[in-house]
Amino acid sequence: MNKGDRTASWAVRGFGCLTHPKISVASRAQREQSRRNQQYLGEEMPRFGEWDQARAREIIAAHGNLEGPVLPILHALVDEFGYIHEEAIGLVASALNLSRAEIHGTVSFYHDFRREPAGEHVLKLCRAEACQSMNGPQLAREFLNELGIEWGGTTHDGALTVEGAFCLGLCACAPSALYDGEPIGRIDRERLDSVVREARGT
Ligand code: FES
Repeated sequence: MNKGDRTASWAVRGFGCLTHPKISVASRAQREQSRRNQQYLGEEMPRFGEWDQARAREIIAAHGNLEGPVLPILHALVDEFGYIHEEAIGLVASALNLSRAEIHGTVSFYHDFRREPAGEHVLKLCRAEACQSMNGPQLAREFLNELGIEWGGTTHDGALTVEGAFCLGLCACAPSALYDGEPIGRIDRERLDSVVREARGT
């Protein structure tokens, strides 16, 4: 079974939230098609670009005229590079005529703005109330222990980063998670193990 078949199988087995099945399957299918196109061309598609100051300046300039541009800029930088590079703090501050402390404070406040490159795949486990009430904390603790990492950590092979999130809007499917931005409802050990296999391509 190749990786594309495994991924399709993973989605069809219903690993998306039951209330959002089409979102999950469609976006995964689109990404797989893009990945297949890249493989057809003999290329492996990186999820994020290498840090590039010139590219960062372009992104900042493209969002600089928005009202309240800090968050859109930071999100765009994470979309491009996967994290907020140290140099980006100064670039954003300078472009918006704000202090480095202000930008640093915003980056530190929001969990989405990680400061280090993530692994190849990112799993976000919800830590908010509805998921807590459905055994989310114990499930997450056992999972992290088994991987040998803590919150925000990346597996030794670089395949998977596990982060916490605070309500993914999937409370009806608690405990919930996002895998590379795609919803997974009613997570349990079997589903988490499948995520790890998927991330490692095994
Ligand atoms: S509390 Fe977990 S998705 Fe809302």
